[in-house]
Parts: sequence; C-alpha cells; structure tokens
Amino acid sequence: MKILVIGSGGREHTLIWKIAQSPLVERIYAAPGNAGIGELAECVPIEATDIEALCDFAKTAQIDLTIVGPELPLVEGIVDQFEEKHLRIFGPTKEAARLEGSKAFAKGLLDELGIPTAAFHTFTTVNDAKKFIVDEEPPFVIKADGLAQGKGVIIASTCEEGVHVVNQMIGQGLFGASGKTVIIEQFLSGDEISILVLTDGTRLIPLSSAQDHKRAFDGDQGPNTGGMGAYSPCPFVTDDELHSYVEQTAKPVIDALRKRGTPYKGILYVGLMLVQGKPYVLEFNVRFGDPETQAILPRLKSDIVPILFQIANGSLEIRKVEWDTRHSISVVMASGGYPGSYQKGFKINGIDSLDSGKDVFVFHAGTARNESGKVITDGGRVLAVSALGNSFREAHELAYQSLAKIKFEGGFYRHDIGKRVFEKTKVGG
Ligand code: AMP
Ligand code: GLY
Repeated sequence: MKILVIGSGGREHTLIWKIAQSPLVERIYAAPGNAGIGELAECVPIEATDIEALCDFAKTAQIDLTIVGPELPLVEGIVDQFEEKHLRIFGPTKEAARLEGSKAFAKGLLDELGIPTAAFHTFTTVNDAKKFIVDEEPPFVIKADGLAQGKGVIIASTCEEGVHVVNQMIGQGLFGASGKTVIIEQFLSGDEISILVLTDGTRLIPLSSAQDHKRAFDGDQGPNTGGMGAYSPCPFVTDDELHSYVEQTAKPVIDALRKRGTPYKGILYVGLMLVQGKPYVLEFNVRFGDPETQAILPRLKSDIVPILFQIANGSLEIRKVEWDTRHSISVVMASGGYPGSYQKGFKINGIDSLDSGKDVFVFHAGTARNESGKVITDGGRVLAVSALGNSFREAHELAYQSLAKIKFEGGFYRHDIGKRVFEKTKVGG
C-alpha cells in the first residue's frame, strides 16, 4: 500500500512511525511533514489545508489510503472532496466534523441526546453575554465557538475578567470569525481524561485511555497549551469504566449521526471530566489527540493499517486490538515563549545520542532541517520524548533521563508529566 499522511506534528510523526511497522505498507508520503518524519516518509511540500493540491497528489501518486492528522482540513471538507474523486481517506466528512468545528453544534447535540456536559449558554452579542455574566457567580468558562488552535477556552475567575474576555472575543474579533459566537459554561472540577474511539460509523474500537497536561508549566500553572505531555493508560479508570464512558458518550453521538444520514467515520476524541465518577463531555475532537497519540501508540501492539483501511472503506471488521501492558509517558519540549510568541531556527543537539527505538522514542513536531542538514526548531511544540516502563515511575525516569540529553536554545518542558499518578494511586508507583 502507498499511504499519505497529512500534517506535520508529533501526532503525525507517531502515526507514521506506527504505520511504517506494517508489512502491508510499501511507501509512505507526508504532506508537509517535518525533519523526523522525513526519516520514515517522503515529505511533499503541500500544506495540510491545500485540499486541491492534496487531491491531485493522491491521484497522481496512486495513494491507496490518506490519513488526515489535523482538524482544519477535516472541518473544511477534505474527506468529502477526496471521496467525490473516489480517493480512499480516513476521517469524518465536513458535516460530521462539526463536532469539533462548532462547539455550539456539539453542545446542542449533547443536550439533545441527554449526555452529561457542563450547563451552557450561547451568545452572539457582547451585551447579552455581559448581562449573563453580571448575574452569575464566577468562575466562567468562556469558549470561542469555532476552531482557535487550542487557545479558544478561557477560564475567567471574576466577572470583570469575564466581561473583558467576551469584549475581546465578540467585540474585538480575537479568534476572528471563530469567536463571534461564544459559549459560556458552568465550571466543572474533577479528573480529565481523553478517550479516543476508532469507528466506521457503526462499530467502535476504543483505544487505551490517556491524560493530557494542558497548562504550560509544572503544577498546572501558566496558560493553556495544545498539550505539554501525556501518559497512558489512566490507572484510575478500569477497563469496565472506560467501556461504560464510551457507551455513555461516544456511542450515542456516533449512533445519532448515522441515523441523521451523516455517519461519523475516523477517530473520535472525547475529552471528559470525571465529576465524582460521572463522565461529563468537555469537548470533541475529530482527529487523534496531540500529545495523547505519542503516549498511546507506542503501547499498541496490533497493526494499525488494516484498521485505518477498513474504516476508510466504511466497514470495520476488526473487533479488538492488543496492548502492551507497560506504561507510557510522553513529555513535550517546547520553544521558549510558547504558547505565546517564540523564535525558530535554533539547532537541536543530542537527539542522536539517545538509545531510541525500543523503550524510548523521539517524535518530532516543530522541526526542520537547515541547508547543512542539521535539525533545527521550527515551531512551538518542538518534539516529544515518549518512554515505556514496567511502572509509571520507570517510564517517567527514562523519559526525563533522555530529555536531559536534548538541548536547544530556550527549550523547556514540564518536569511533572505523569507524576500525579504516583501520588494518586499505588498503581505503577
Ligand atoms: P476544551 O478545548 O473544551 O477541552 O477546553 C480546554 C481545557 O479547558 C480543558 O481541557 C479543560 O481543562 C478546561 N475546560 C474546558 N471546559 C471546562 C469546564 N466546563 N469546566 C472546567 N474546565 C474546563
Ligand atoms: N491534547 C489535546 C488535543 O489534541 O486537542
């Protein structure tokens, strides 16, 4: 098979690393890819949002299966356009991708299906939003309706801050059209987990659970990021509980979309908050999570390619996947300044000195090569180091010993990824 993976992040490097292990695969292309991906796949310089050029490439290169990494091309309808041209592609259609593309759509569907989610109100004018805020108690969870690169959720701890945020989003166009409609939600506290479900629109295979670390700094301080690290599985969620969360959240949504005539195929990411053991849906993503993928896929023993292929064909026959029973931790190393502004182009040293491949994996995200072939920084989240261990503590130590050898100017990472599991439970400690 010839496979094309669209995207250039750590998630895509991990997917390609896993796909490359399949005996079914003859050749892998990535558009546009990054420095690490370039070691496993041929990178073609087409942006992930240039749908027409991607279609043309898939046709000319006779690609058997295209896999879409990021949400933007999905929300813009890449799957519809590929399928019109009889090109096989893994991911949801434009209509089904509204689960991520419009929070108002997702919340409306959750409400209709009676799936627990934070109570919410939708606003399109600053005045209505302000009136609501001054009558309610903080904190306020304020969300831009559309896509905002993971930055569209702001938690305001006072009414003044809440009013300031809606002024910025609706009034001043922070996040552009995505923020012209805002959702104000009830604040929930509990344990967050990420559940990823592979589906052909009818049948489901849940992947092992993971937990992301969204804040930039140790101890969950600092601004929200795309994710600074993850671990898998979540020791405080049993297999039965995971199954029950899927039955209560992902399954009714997938069933409802099929019954409406807009089936969901691909992977559905359900962000959950466990409030006293009850799962509340925080968000849906219509793609693999980043950095959850970097923690989950090193534990997946089954070949992923037949699963992705069957889903793209609309008929998932495989019922179950096999997991490595070890624990994994993945830590993101980012450019100084991220998630705000940062400089690019710094040389990255030390990657080659790692004994990577068996228990330690370096997945590139924002990396490129300079004219002399040296790997340099090229984005906010630069790379992730994932490690497997017989316990979380072992995985944690291995990941951090490896990270200590990687250096680039301004580079930083959190020191506490996965630590909460040693504190919380005896499992894996
Ligand atoms: P989202 O993009 O909707 O997942 O939101 C980003 C992050 O904001 C989540 O991972 C949570 O940590 C936090 N968050 C979102 N919604 C809520 C909520 N209703 N209550 C508390 N925290 C939330
Ligand atoms: N890790 C959160 C996300 O992929 O959106």
